[in-house]
Amino acid sequence: MRRIMIAGNWKMNLIDDIEPLTGIEPIDNMDILICPPFTHIDKYSKSTEGTAVKVGAQNAYYEDSGAYTGEISYKFLRDFGVEYVILGHSERRHVFGETDEMVNMKVKKGLSEGFSLIVCIGEKESDRENNKHKMVVENQLKTALMGIENNFENIIIAYEPVWAIGTGKTATPLDAEDMHKFIREKIAEVAGREISANMQILYGGSVKKHNVKDLLRQDNIDGALIGGASLKYDHFISIIRNAEQINI
Ligand code: PGA
Repeated sequence: MRRIMIAGNWKMNLIDDIEPLTGIEPIDNMDILICPPFTHIDKYSKSTEGTAVKVGAQNAYYEDSGAYTGEISYKFLRDFGVEYVILGHSERRHVFGETDEMVNMKVKKGLSEGFSLIVCIGEKESDRENNKHKMVVENQLKTALMGIENNFENIIIAYEPVWAIGTGKTATPLDAEDMHKFIREKIAEVAGREISANMQILYGGSVKKHNVKDLLRQDNIDGALIGGASLKYDHFISIIRNAEQINI
């Protein structure tokens, strides 16, 4: 049975009441992650201690310390018990100008510091319209993973088509599956078949309680990275419960 991950990316938002999340019992073969803003990691790490819910970060920089105003290092995150970090989210790329090369430096540093990394890739709508979506995704993937050699165990990929993020437009399960299968084949080219088979590939982009099951039923979709629907406890828990029902 494969292991799935349901991860909430809160972005620059807070949730008033996450108390009920702390009551979630561990679920077989499922990891549950929330990624609040940096300022609230400590609080939620403490309140979720001993529960099924883990707390991650939305970004990290590739230097340990220094004159990098506004950035945060892996070493600082470790002090707050963070194990997971999201890297290369499309908002980091498109709003803050992060390049594939910067994502790669963050990946290498995060691995050397022992973190599990959720590396986001995904094409823009124009790439898909011009039938370049696979080429774009392959380039992002291969650059992000460049030079990491045998250190793939702590990598999770999140395929998030930019046009589906926060728009209510989800990729169809079959389109998402087609891309996930492609990504797995490309990982096999750089990391080997066995690693590729075990690597988690999450889907992100307008995942909601009503579509999560159809997405997770696909062979190569191993979980979801959720923005908007992770901000309401009842939506997020419904996604978790629906995911639990899929016999994967
Ligand atoms: P969304 O965001 O679920 O609101 O589309 C997903 C993400 O940005 O990771």
